Amino acid sequence: MARGRVSDETLVVTNKLEAHYGRHDGLVSDILAGLSAAGYDIDSLDPTALSGADEFHLGGRLATIALLESVREKQPESVLDVGCGIGGPARTIANELDVTTLGIDLTPSFVETATELTARVGLAGRVSFKVGNALALDLPNEQFDLVTLLHVGMNIADRPRLFAELARVLRPGGQVLVYDIMRIAPGSLTLPMPWASSDDHQHLGDVDDYLGALRAAGLEAGEPVDHRAIVSTALRRAADAPPPVNLSNLMGPDFVEMFSNLRTAVAAGLVAPMQIVGSKPG
Ligand SMILES: C[S@@+](CC[C@H](N)C(=O)[O-])C[C@H]1O[C@@H](n2cnc3c(N)ncnc32)[C@H](O)[C@@H]1O
Repeated sequence: MARGRVSDETLVVTNKLEAHYGRHDGLVSDILAGLSAAGYDIDSLDPTALSGADEFHLGGRLATIALLESVREKQPESVLDVGCGIGGPARTIANELDVTTLGIDLTPSFVETATELTARVGLAGRVSFKVGNALALDLPNEQFDLVTLLHVGMNIADRPRLFAELARVLRPGGQVLVYDIMRIAPGSLTLPMPWASSDDHQHLGDVDDYLGALRAAGLEAGEPVDHRAIVSTALRRAADAPPPVNLSNLMGPDFVEMFSNLRTAVAAGLVAPMQIVGSKPG
């Protein structure tokens, strides 16, 4: 399929995804009102003040920083964050690695929110966003040193095509950093989950699915890492010192049920937040 084109079937799933992620209107004003109510000066915001609401993956900002340790050594200069949500990881990556970052996401309201929040925290010169589909990126070949994918693959059925596309935009010697919820044991899961309201856009894979898809895309796959310990630490810290805004500001009141279902599945040993780094031969 040509660059940037998606099939009709993909468009149907896209609509379902938009209904799931785009459920909550007025994101920026809701987040800023929450910060203001907590006593923050919203005209002079540090990006970390947003991190309860803008890092939409298990472990939040703490996990993002831990993940970056595995790719820091290669000193990437240009980073693509695929499925960027409202941009928290892209802003953290830009600050932590001192790089320029482009975030792409299928959900237009998330991209608008990401752009507005990034301007508000003074990072617009280094971090930008656009609407796009991970399965058909409207980007040239071999443009990025690092591609990150945080809690996005659970929405994508065609993982071989996903990783072929990520490998295409990666420079030789570049890396793909994956951090997804993966299946670690059989057993039924209760929906809604934070990434899906119904089965048509829930596509959990296991470690072997990911390793197979990475290798089929010509990438060398590193050892998978289970990050449940970091997630427990992050949850303890959030319980001790609740952040001024949280993922209910992003997803609405239903997030409480989504998160409870995910916690139950993690505690039952059915799923885990797993990291895998893929490298494109130089
Ligand atoms: C659970 S959120 C994670 C957001 C972000 N990576 C983070 O960690 O804060 C999943 C994101 O993936 C996006 N997404 C799902 N399928 C996608 C696709 N095919 N292409 C681009 N974005 C996609 C959704 O719109 C949503 O913003």
